[in-house]
Amino acid sequence: MCGIVGYVGVQEATTIVLDGLRRLEYRGYDSAGVATQQNGCIEIRRAEGKLLNLEKVLSERPVQGNCGIGHTRWATHGRPSETNAHPHYAGGIVVVHNGIIENFLELKEILRGKGHNFNSETDTEIIAHLVEDYYKTDKDFVGAVRKALAKVRGAYAVAILCEQEPATMVAAKQGSPLVVGQGNGEHFVASDIPAMLSHTREITFLEDGEMVVFGGGGMEVTDLAGNLIEKSPKTITWDPIMAEKGGYKHFMLKEIYEQPRAIADTLAGRLTEDEGDAYLEGLNLSDQQLQAVDNIFIVACGTSWHAALVGKFLLEKHCRIPVDVDIASEFRYRDPIVQSNTLTLLLSQSGETADTLAALREAKAKGGQVVSICNVVESSIPRESDGVICTHAGPEIGVASTKAFTTQLVALTLLTMRIGRSRNSLSAENCRDLAQELLKLPRKVEATLELNDQIEAIAREFMAAQDFLYLGRGNQYPAALEGALKLKEISYIHAEGYPAGELKHGPIALIDEQMPVVVLVPENATSEKVLSNMKEVQARAGKVIAVTDANGESFCDNVDSLLVVPKITDDLMPILTSIPLQLLAYHIAVLKGTDVDQPRNLAKSVTVE
Ligand code: F6R
Repeated sequence: MCGIVGYVGVQEATTIVLDGLRRLEYRGYDSAGVATQQNGCIEIRRAEGKLLNLEKVLSERPVQGNCGIGHTRWATHGRPSETNAHPHYAGGIVVVHNGIIENFLELKEILRGKGHNFNSETDTEIIAHLVEDYYKTDKDFVGAVRKALAKVRGAYAVAILCEQEPATMVAAKQGSPLVVGQGNGEHFVASDIPAMLSHTREITFLEDGEMVVFGGGGMEVTDLAGNLIEKSPKTITWDPIMAEKGGYKHFMLKEIYEQPRAIADTLAGRLTEDEGDAYLEGLNLSDQQLQAVDNIFIVACGTSWHAALVGKFLLEKHCRIPVDVDIASEFRYRDPIVQSNTLTLLLSQSGETADTLAALREAKAKGGQVVSICNVVESSIPRESDGVICTHAGPEIGVASTKAFTTQLVALTLLTMRIGRSRNSLSAENCRDLAQELLKLPRKVEATLELNDQIEAIAREFMAAQDFLYLGRGNQYPAALEGALKLKEISYIHAEGYPAGELKHGPIALIDEQMPVVVLVPENATSEKVLSNMKEVQARAGKVIAVTDANGESFCDNVDSLLVVPKITDDLMPILTSIPLQLLAYHIAVLKGTDVDQPRNLAKSVTVE
């Protein structure tokens, strides 16, 4: 998730672009860059790290022009560095890009064969080279962009300038956000509305497959084939803070709704459906090394630890390797038995959690391979790991983790596929089936989000409760723990997650008519058992909020509230059942008037023991 800004008009482009990038820094801050076009010349300035560094570069070496593009980067392909910073340039063409080009390696090879040399590790640079390649022969900038975009597969929002085409900018969108702003004789393009709100409130929303050409004081929207599309701008009335949250009341809600895109980005370019395998670029472990693994530790804290618990089910089922899951603050002090054939897997959204980092160092000191799953590419944990799987959730600003959690589950599934295939414990056919289910996931998450209104009504009914219980069995138990943690964190209501079968061994004493019990009961091998546990709750007058899937709806009669998520393979069901629980916690917190995005006593990145 990066931020792009473009400007064509009468003012100094750099000022406008920098101002826009400042408002998009929430989308990434690994590096930033700008390019301007003036008098047949393109000037580029880039810097690693936050925008402040770029501003310093620009104060020493300013650039001028009334046409410019800029970018703030959240690293996906290639580590954060000046070389990998956008804009990327090739033979008079300069590009900023948000998204992931899935077939970039294939295109890179073709372009190399035609004599193109690449400077960065990014997928974006191939777009500049592709456009250059077509422009060289046709001398038609807009046509060259069209041809280039027809070749790329994946998600993109791009803004492109050409040295030989004064005051012309082309932008296009496929799967990544892009909005256009119209001012007085000037035009803006950006990943998000806040970037242009101080200049215009007249916003045109582009759809996937649309392209816009700015030039000669006007703009023209077409599809990729060049057919004209009529669009009219909407007047935006949001205040700037609301705009930063994309119109959502809180970052947490925005991030809950970003999950379909975050999951799609985490999958992009990683599924080789035909071969029935997963491609994990940074894993750095050969088939032989994976075959030699005797046992796995998954180590993490908080929400990431809940993802780790789901990971145990996936890895043990499909890879037949014993997996231990540890809380990082315990692992580091318990003298764990890590051997040369142990794989230690660290899960961390931030990559900076002190306990998880210490656990990583402990595992490394003892030997074996250390791999991390992380959402921040260049943070400490991936830097110190032998291999890394990046989740591509984009920055998570709400303190309560949502999209980082569900993308960790996706990354764990991909890792399971890779290890399972390397050891042949997972057949190519079963792996292909899992890949198919993964590809359906973003759409099913969208369908799950449609439960929002129903969940808000349930939240109203139960917001006054003092305690909640969350029950689940198997891989739904970690989802129950995660649901309870979300509620505790942001609503300050006491909540416990329990394996449903444990209920009768103690917690059942708590059940009375005051106690809401959230029961996760999708149809699976243990759903009948969970149903019995649910009946035990109802027999003691407890209030049941059941979360099931389309196949389980019929056996959940007589519950107080029922939430039905789409059916998906059992391996991925914790992703779908977690989402209503995120929304339930969110709505209860909003109704109670707590600080949802920055709950008391909590921090986003816990860098102390
Ligand atoms: C809960 C939450 C925390 C984190 C935990 C570990 O919503 O966000 O429990 O999961 O502090 O953080 P990371 O994943 O950054 O290591």
